[in-house]
Parts: sequence; C-alpha cells; structure tokens
Amino acid sequence: MADFEHVFDAPPEGAAADWTIGQDWASYTPVEHQTWDTLYARQMQILPGRASDAFLNGLKALDLNAGGIPDFEVINPKLKALTGWTVVCVPGLVPDAVFFDHLANRRFPSGQFIRKPDQLDYLQEPDIFHDVFGHVPMLTDPDFADYMEAYGKGGQRAAGLGVLPQLARLYWYTVEFGLMESPDGLRIYGAGIVSSATESVFALDDPSPNRIGFDLERVMRTLYRIDDFQQVYFIIPSIEALKAETLRDFGPIYERLQGASDIPVEAVLAGDDVRTRGTQTYAARGGRFAA
Ligand SMILES: [Fe+2]
Repeated sequence: MADFEHVFDAPPEGAAADWTIGQDWASYTPVEHQTWDTLYARQMQILPGRASDAFLNGLKALDLNAGGIPDFEVINPKLKALTGWTVVCVPGLVPDAVFFDHLANRRFPSGQFIRKPDQLDYLQEPDIFHDVFGHVPMLTDPDFADYMEAYGKGGQRAAGLGVLPQLARLYWYTVEFGLMESPDGLRIYGAGIVSSATESVFALDDPSPNRIGFDLERVMRTLYRIDDFQQVYFIIPSIEALKAETLRDFGPIYERLQGASDIPVEAVLAGDDVRTRGTQTYAARGGRFAA
C-alpha cells in the first residue's frame, strides 16, 4: 500500500540496506501454502468477467497457481523478461523513500508472510497474497509497468515538495482501487479489489459507492478510507490513457493543489463525470462495523 507509516528509522535486523529480506520459500508451512490455494481458488470463482484482461493475462503469464505460495526465484525471471520488473520481500512496512526507490527501479516490495486461515477476509497489513496476487499480474502489462516506475520517481519528487498525501491518493485510487472501462463493461484492476472476495463484488455491483470518470486533479484532492470498502471509485478509460495522463509534469498541478481543499469521500462535484451516483447506503449503515 502507498501510505506506509514509518515504523523503523533503519532496516530491522536481518534486512539489507534497501530493507529487503530473503523470501525463504522453503520455510512456508503446508497450511500457509493451502491458504494461498484457498484464496486463489476463491478469487478465480469471482474474477472472470470482473477483472481486467491485463490482470487475468498477467496471472496466466506468471502461472501464479502452480501450487501454493509462488517462489520468487521462479516468477521473477518470467516477470523480468516481460517488463523488467522483479518482486522483492520486505519485512512489512517500509518508509516512503524506500518504497519509492524500489518502484523507481522496477522492484515491487512484497510482504513475506501470508494471512492466517482465520483472517481470510480482512487484515491490516498487506500480506503476500495481496501483494503478489493483487499487484504483480498488472506489472506484466508494459504500460502499467511504465506507470508504476513513473509513480516511484514521482514519489521521490513529491516528497521533496511536500505533496506526498496528494500523490498517495493517485496510487490509492488507481493501483489499489482502480476500475477501468472495457468493451464489455467496467472491470477491476486495483490490487485492493482483485485480492478481496467481497470488494470484487461491491466495487462493480453495489449501488452504494459513487463511480466517477478519472480526473487526475480530482483524484489527488479526494480523501480515502483505509478501514472499509471505498465510497468512491474512479474509472480510467484504459491503462494507456492512465499512463499518458500521468507522464506529464506534475509541477503546475501541485501548485494548483496547494490552495485546493480536500474532497470528502462521498462527495459528487458539479464537474464530475458521474457513471454511478451512489446511494452511500453501505457506509451509512456503518459498513463492516454494522451490527
Ligand atoms: Fe497494495
């Protein structure tokens, strides 16, 4: 996820200077491999017809269902040959600067652990299922691969300009919770959605959330929630369009954003390209915390 908190100032013991650790694939237990298989099978019941072609093609290209948790030594050569990206393990949360440096160099940081069998639906920290199943297939798409590298470089710049919260919203509403158009209707590509059985359905089908056409400055001004389903999703026309939109100089945008107010999660503005005007019923009832 984009908004890592600073938990440590220096790499913890056992981690390299860039905060990476070994995956130690041989250390995963049969129960942990089974958890991957269970989550994978469950998502594949839901995702055909919902996930973008880029995501589904990436899953196939990397063969992430070879049996249990993927071994990075097996998937990295395939991923590297396709787009130059690799996956590296990190010990949980890493500082923003470390995160951006990895992305800028086409390395995607992944958690090493997998959730426990009694936490299949909700966990606070991204695990290897969220990070590898959710994020890595999209990195096989050449345009998305470019976008993610550009995001890492943009993060390094934004940090120096004091606009990280605004840039993090772009990551949130695209890489984590993005929707895109397709000839057959809306599709999901955000890792936070495709790795969640419940949000995979909610994001496309539920009448509660707003669904709004992507607008870069609008997205950068919009707050988000980290504890429940999103109250607004933004729709990109295509990955190529997202890349084109974000490969320009953000300097003038950041200047305009300095004086702009934040937009609440449930807001619909006069200039919005509204595809669904949500009822917001789910959030009004208390969301996941409803009795
Ligand atoms: Fe994520």
